[in-house]
Amino acid sequence: MGMEYRIAVLPGDGIGPEVIEQALLVLEQVGRKFGHVFRFTTLLAGGCAIDATGNPLPEETLDECRRSDAVLLGAVGGPKWDNLPGDIRPEAGLLALRGGLGLFANLRPAVLNRELRDACPLRPDIVGESMDIMVVRELTGGIYFGQRGRRTGKMGEEAFDTECYSEGEIERIARVAFEVARKRRKKVTSVDKANVLESSRLWREVVTKVANDYPDVTLEHMYVDNAAMQLVRNPRQFDVIVTSNMFGDILSDEASMITGSIGMLPSASLGEGSFGLYEPIHGSAPDIAGKDKANPLATILSAAMMLRYTMHLEEEAMAVENAVNRVLEEGYRTADIMSTGKKNVGTREMGRLVAERI
Ligand code: IPM
Ligand code: MG
Repeated sequence: MGMEYRIAVLPGDGIGPEVIEQALLVLEQVGRKFGHVFRFTTLLAGGCAIDATGNPLPEETLDECRRSDAVLLGAVGGPKWDNLPGDIRPEAGLLALRGGLGLFANLRPAVLNRELRDACPLRPDIVGESMDIMVVRELTGGIYFGQRGRRTGKMGEEAFDTECYSEGEIERIARVAFEVARKRRKKVTSVDKANVLESSRLWREVVTKVANDYPDVTLEHMYVDNAAMQLVRNPRQFDVIVTSNMFGDILSDEASMITGSIGMLPSASLGEGSFGLYEPIHGSAPDIAGKDKANPLATILSAAMMLRYTMHLEEEAMAVENAVNRVLEEGYRTADIMSTGKKNVGTREMGRLVAERI
C-alpha cells in the first residue's frame, strides 16, 4: 500500500543543490512506480543560510526537520565562509543539526563498486575482489562537542578542546554497531587510543561489556594509528568499524578513498527510532559547482539509504541501488569516475538515466 512521507530537503552550498535535484528526481520516480507520496520542503542550511539569515542553522530549518520523517542534505561550506568565527561557520550548522536532532550514529559504508575497481588506488592483490566496510561513527559526542576555548598560558595564548564520553553514549553507539554487524559478516572492530586516552579506556570497557549481548558477533579492539595503517595494508580484514566522532571522521575519509570514488558514497545519521538524516559523504566542491559536472550518485544512494532505514522500504531501496549499478554497467560516468572507453555524462543526465531505470 502506498504511503506518504514528509522530507526536509537541505540542498546547502556548492554542488549541494545540483546533486539534491537529481536525488529528488529519482525519489519522485520511486513514488510513481511504487505508489508513495514524498512531500519535500526545501530549507536553508550552511553558507546559504548564513547569507540569508546570519545563522548557519535557522530555527525554522531545525523545526521543520523535527516535523519531518527524514532529512536529505546536499553539502555545506565553501571558501566564501572560511574566515567566519567558528560558531557561525557552515560546519557549525551541520554539527548543530546533528546534535539538535539527536543523530548519534553515523553509518558510512565504504563499498568498492565492481564496475569502478580501476579507481581503487590500492593494488588488486591487496583489495581483492571486493571491499565492503561499514564505518559506524559516534556523531554527537567527543571532542567535536566537548568544551573548548582560549586562555592565556605560560607560553602565550592557549586553545583547548575536550574529548569526553559517557557510558551511555558509548553503549548506544556500540549497540548500533553490533546490530549492523549481525546483518553483515558479524565482526566489529572497535577503534580507540586506549594506550593513551582515559576516554578510550572507558570506550573499550563499555564496548567489551556490550559485546556480551552479541555472542554471535566477533569483537576486536584496535588502536587508531594501527587501524589507519591496516586499512591500506589489508582492508579486507574489516567488516564493521565502530569509533568515536573524531577518529570516525578521519577513518571514514580514508576508507572512502580506498573505493576510489568518494562521489559514490552515501551516509545515514540515525538516532533513536527511524528518523534519520541522509547525505553524501563528499563535500560541497565549490570549484565545480554550477557546471553540471558533479556526481549525483552519492546523494541518490543516500536517498536509497533513507528508503531503507527510515521508511523500511527495502524493495524501493534496492530498486534505486540496482538502477545505479545498471547505469554504471552501461558505461555512463561523471567526470570524477571517468575512464577510457566510457561515456562521460553530466549531473543532470546521470540523474535522468538512473530515474529512467527505476
Ligand atoms: C564530515 C565532515 C564534517 C565533520 C564537517 C564538515 C563538520 O567532515 O561529515 O565528515 O567533521 O563531521
Ligand atoms: Mg569528515
